[in-house]
Amino acid sequence: MKKITILDLQKMKDSGEKITMLTAYDYPTARMLDESGIDVLLIGDSVGNVMMGYENTLPVTIDDMVYHTRAVAKARKRALVVADMPFMSYQVSIEEARRNAGRLIQQGGAEAVKLEGGENMEAVIKALSEVDIPVMGHIGLTPQSIPRMGGYKIQGKDERQWQKLLADALAVERAGAFSVVLEAIPHELAKEITATLHIPTIGIGAGVNCDGQVLVINDVLGLSGSFRPKFVKQYVQLEPVIKKAVQDFITEVKEEKFPTKAQSF
Ligand code: KIV
Repeated sequence: MKKITILDLQKMKDSGEKITMLTAYDYPTARMLDESGIDVLLIGDSVGNVMMGYENTLPVTIDDMVYHTRAVAKARKRALVVADMPFMSYQVSIEEARRNAGRLIQQGGAEAVKLEGGENMEAVIKALSEVDIPVMGHIGLTPQSIPRMGGYKIQGKDERQWQKLLADALAVERAGAFSVVLEAIPHELAKEITATLHIPTIGIGAGVNCDGQVLVINDVLGLSGSFRPKFVKQYVQLEPVIKKAVQDFITEVKEEKFPTKAQSF
């Protein structure tokens, strides 16, 4: 089994092979995704919404990210492990950005970090790349900017925003990022960015022309309750399956049908 590296992602773009990335936040899920052949495991700061029940990603801390990254990295055999830098772990100073990215690599076991921002984060991406910490950029709808954006809104819809996102994408590449996530932007803009950049683009709500696709694992598995944005495809609905198993357990315990002799010593 060949281990995926950031060089492989570049080769995949260059040869036209699509890159697959899913989020994971715990050991058993990461193990299943890795064994299924996923290229990249992302410990997203979506851990805040998905696993911790927060309204958004802003309360997630670097300690939370190190904890979840460690669990995922332990399960990884083949996939590239990328950890999100949470809100305020890279915005205060270059020094803090380097120290926190270093924690995700050294204590968490990540092989790369992801951070949100374009031109405004060029210096930070450069500073991390200079000390050999591979950076995945993230532009478009950046969930850590929700207070400024006024909600989860498609970005790049007018000419000014379109040009700004093109400039952001070029800044991320110029700074040394090895790839960039494009979130919730028109598919024609994602196509233009993907054709312009040399590094791979990985889309979420950005159409089919990106070099790869990423989704949140709970959305893919039907474990997100009624939350279902337009760009999500639910490949299976696990919630009813889990609820049925739990209800069966409750019933059997109450009716003394479990445990039977087979489960007893
Ligand atoms: O935090 C996250 O899960 C992400 C992906 C949705 C790209 O950033």
